[in-house]
Amino acid sequence: MQLPIRHEWFEKNAVFLLMGALLTVAIGGLVEIVPLFTIETTVEHVQGMRPYSPLELRGRDIYVREGCYLCHSQQIRTLRDEVERYGHYSIAAESMYDHPFQWGSKRIGPDLARVGGKYSNDWHYAHLRNAQSMVPESLMPHYAFLEQTPLELDDLQERMRTLRELGVPYTDDDIAHAKEDLLAQADPRSDNKALLKRYPKAVEASGSGHVVTEADALVAYLQMLGTLVNFADTNTERLQQ
Ligand code: HEC
Repeated sequence: MQLPIRHEWFEKNAVFLLMGALLTVAIGGLVEIVPLFTIETTVEHVQGMRPYSPLELRGRDIYVREGCYLCHSQQIRTLRDEVERYGHYSIAAESMYDHPFQWGSKRIGPDLARVGGKYSNDWHYAHLRNAQSMVPESLMPHYAFLEQTPLELDDLQERMRTLRELGVPYTDDDIAHAKEDLLAQADPRSDNKALLKRYPKAVEASGSGHVVTEADALVAYLQMLGTLVNFADTNTERLQQ
């Protein structure tokens, strides 16, 4: 017995075929788009997450500008080998202030989601200058010029305002003190109480100590990655089931 071929009718009536295709695509689109309207409740808030300090933010810009993401992801998957190698798997809240986020599946170098605190600042400066001096078999390019490039500070507040437009909760106070906070984080002799109040756990980074360089910003950013959330306090077990 042959089954009636219903789609034949559709295929012979171009207008209905088009309408049918549109309807199918519209349903698919809605299923993907509608949950985003509830994004506030979709991303679980966890303690410790905060926007980037001004120096970290500039470091992140350099990370993106230099295309570090072409070799490094920042997304530890829920697979056992990843968790054993890198630590707790990444959760959405950790990237909630990232525009654009740094997830990805392409890794030529290791995942960097939890690299903060793994090495000393000195290690990072030396590694950025010449990766093979720290890891002889490394194929990471050299970024020595970052240490010789003074960090552009003029558009700092603009950058923070733009991120605020996108939903990053920088306050007027944060923006007003951006430059002070940046300089405090880049100078080990400075009084950084105000900085740490606004941006807990911010790690100081200063290479040459005279001018703030792009390398300082990048190191401050790398040293923060993965250190903000204390997983003992979150209920991520629930996610694990
Ligand atoms: C061509 C690919 C490539 C690019 C581009 C690249 N890296 Fe790497 N990176 C690697 C490889 C491979 C390693 C592992 C060997 C090593 O430690 O040098 C690595 C290691 C690292 C590590 C140490 C990670 C760990 O857990 O040991 C850090 C930090 C790092 N890279 C930062 C950066 C930053 C910042 C940039 C951009 C300025 C960058 N990388 C660009 C390939 C790359």
